[in-house]
Amino acid sequence: MTYATVAKLQLKDASLLKHQGFIGGQWVDAKDKAVFKVLNPATQEELGAVADMGVEEAKRAIDIAGEAFKTWSKTTGRERHDILLKLYKLMQDNAEDLAMILTAENGKTITEARGENAYSASFVEWFAEEAIRTYGQTIPSAMIGLRNVVVKQPVGVCSLLTPWNFPSAMIGRKLAPALAAGCTAVIKPPSETPYSTLALVELAKRAGVPDGVINVVPTEVHLKDVGKELCENKTVKKISFTGSTPVAKLLMSQAATSLKKVSFEAGGNAPFIVFDDADIEAAVEGAIASKFRASGQTCVCANRIYVHSSVYADFASRLAQKVDGFKIGNGMDKETTHGPLIHEKAIEKVQRHVDDAVSKGASILVGGKRAEGLPGFFYEPTVLADVDPRAQVTDEETFGPVAALIKFETEEEVIRLANDTDVGLAGYFFSRDVGRVWRVAEALQVGMVGANTGMISQPVIPFGGVKESGLGREGGPHGIDEYMNTKFIAFGGL
Ligand code: SIN
Repeated sequence: MTYATVAKLQLKDASLLKHQGFIGGQWVDAKDKAVFKVLNPATQEELGAVADMGVEEAKRAIDIAGEAFKTWSKTTGRERHDILLKLYKLMQDNAEDLAMILTAENGKTITEARGENAYSASFVEWFAEEAIRTYGQTIPSAMIGLRNVVVKQPVGVCSLLTPWNFPSAMIGRKLAPALAAGCTAVIKPPSETPYSTLALVELAKRAGVPDGVINVVPTEVHLKDVGKELCENKTVKKISFTGSTPVAKLLMSQAATSLKKVSFEAGGNAPFIVFDDADIEAAVEGAIASKFRASGQTCVCANRIYVHSSVYADFASRLAQKVDGFKIGNGMDKETTHGPLIHEKAIEKVQRHVDDAVSKGASILVGGKRAEGLPGFFYEPTVLADVDPRAQVTDEETFGPVAALIKFETEEEVIRLANDTDVGLAGYFFSRDVGRVWRVAEALQVGMVGANTGMISQPVIPFGGVKESGLGREGGPHGIDEYMNTKFIAFGGL
């Protein structure tokens, strides 16, 4: 194993860098001592090597989580609240180290990494407060001598499968409600970015989360088999996954073998609409925030930017000018505004979308190619004009820094184009007409709408999609319900 580059990170607390799995409160190697390598996408240097665990370790982690559930589920909401608040505090105390780890493994800028860790911690704080408010209900009975009571109970062991684009925040958004509800967890972190998860779990241990309540099974080689075990094992009662739609479908079919509770936050293809009555400067800022956050690697990124023909030229030139001013580079560098993509395949997909759009008549206003002279997986932030509504970029999530501009004429036409997709996670539009704001917000077939804003993500909202973008909601007042069963008790003979 080589830990040379991570050592160069110069963390205040180097013991936050863990390279092993975590089972039953112990840091452990894979049974066969196998490891997988983690690369820094900004340099392609090896960051380190992490234990590559298999089905046997996954089964053990699930059994241990099942045992731990017996006692953790009996703790009071107040006890769980106190432990989660300690974790929240530890995340703040170690914020700079966590940000450096995140930038090193994911590539996002250190400013974005600080923001992501604050976002992640805000879920821990929110769900600490929810732990003491898992209210039930009484329902008046139609029968004499009968009382109806509804209570909420933790579902049991949860499998949490998280993505590389938000290695810290997606753990915060899944693990915090699971623990708050009284559930235990087995986490499969992304093999591209396992270190943020491992650091958070170390902090959770320090915060007093009992042994066995959280378990982590990292893997790269055994991804499919471990994923199957986490979805099919009968002790697991709930699966929460963030990632692509095809993988969500596979996991759902596996979960169906024992009819588990599932929540999936899957792919998006967000429309971003600029109407003729929009505040154009605000729309440009909104497009930049939505499209270029994390270098275009978020599920809620604007993927198709529809601009009314009367404001098209103005919007396109202002957007292109701003994007031209971006500085791509290593996220650790203070000057960098945008980091690399996660790996070579991501670059290839972005290039395929750009080439396809150009072959169908689009012109490149800025960017349009891999960045030269940088060692990592960098693609130039790109603005494409006059994109054909049938181009691949309008149909498939790019997951990269490409703003595809498409002209439209009428509200009816753009709503039809916006909804002409199998997925529906987020949608955005800019308009100052209050009637149109209501009409369009209601007409967009998505789970989340940004009206006159390109930034919707917060811990307090029900995050999730419709159509093939997933099931369930994460965060907000609804988030904890995903980890609880509703039980009805009839009290008779009164
Ligand atoms: C995601 O891209 O999966 C999550 C983004 C967010 O929470 O804003």
